[in-house]
Amino acid sequence: MSEPARSQPDQHDTIRAVAYAAGVLRLLDQRELPFKETFIECRNAQDVTVAIRDLVVRGAPAIGIAAAWGVVLQAGLLESAGEAINSASLDNAINGLNAARPTAVNLAWALARMRAALARAGARDDALALLAHEAQAIQDEDLAANRHMGELGANLMSQGSGVMTHCNTGSLATAGYGTALGVIRAGYTSGKIAQVYAGETRPWLQGARLTMWELVRDRIPAKLIADSAAAHLMKSGAVQWVIVGADRIAANGDTANKIGTYQLAIAARRHGAKFMVVAPWSTVDMATQKGDDIHIELRDPAELLGVAGKRTVVDGADAWNPVFDVTPAELIDYIVTERGVIEKPDSARMQQLAAHG
Ligand code: MRU
Repeated sequence: MSEPARSQPDQHDTIRAVAYAAGVLRLLDQRELPFKETFIECRNAQDVTVAIRDLVVRGAPAIGIAAAWGVVLQAGLLESAGEAINSASLDNAINGLNAARPTAVNLAWALARMRAALARAGARDDALALLAHEAQAIQDEDLAANRHMGELGANLMSQGSGVMTHCNTGSLATAGYGTALGVIRAGYTSGKIAQVYAGETRPWLQGARLTMWELVRDRIPAKLIADSAAAHLMKSGAVQWVIVGADRIAANGDTANKIGTYQLAIAARRHGAKFMVVAPWSTVDMATQKGDDIHIELRDPAELLGVAGKRTVVDGADAWNPVFDVTPAELIDYIVTERGVIEKPDSARMQQLAAHG
């Protein structure tokens, strides 16, 4: 029997979740996927802050990009009102965006870039254009980084591998193509990857609702598994690689990512699967020394007490809902960034790549 036609690279990556044009930021509402493809329109920084907080847009690079455009929207409103565009007039808006979510460092990183652009713009007449140029650069650089990391990550693998991934790290979570999902896209195209397993990613179901949507669109062979099936799957020998993204990588290589990632790394080590973290350098936080220093976001217990908004737990029950965890560097085989690959990350190797910046 002949194999189904393998999808081609240009058939991949057709989704753009964050798009700015003429004073409006359109965000694909990820709360509604996979059943409805609706966009919400943001017209000021507060709209973007709420969209980030409520997970309309999510994924570390995507929230940084959206926040950068949030600064542009706010600057546009100042200009229309005949007011000055400067650090003081945008301070509240930028602080609000920065506080929308705490763990993914890409948010603070993108806003620091926008603050620096603002400082460069000074009192220039074209300050708004300069800010828009910076936001566009942040977005374009992310897409380019993802494409590069896709190749670097896929090059580490042997033909026909089985891969487990977690959360959503694809076009929805980035400027496009994805981080871990970018490696999966590149790896599938080159024959390195034969089968993908995606964990559901309770409680918000990024794996079930978003990653499966992207993989099915790209015709990449993928099976959804319950998060609790991961160790059992790895024990069967079906998984040679666990490939995940990151929300913040500390200076020693410890990596914060979606809750459940740490237990996948433990299971991978136990069963001989390699563990790869894929993230642009904007996710690396050399100012945070180790994973224990990373602020882990706690979200509303209600997210855990139901599924898709329908309550599944007895009234009166409480829940604990940390949405990220930290995988210690010693459980990570490779960190793939657009600057290069770090094997067996530690402080010295992280520092070496940081110096290349
Ligand atoms: O809570 P989320 O959906 O924003 O969490 C996203 C993740 O944990 C991703 O794995 C991470 O941001 C990397 S996305 C390229």
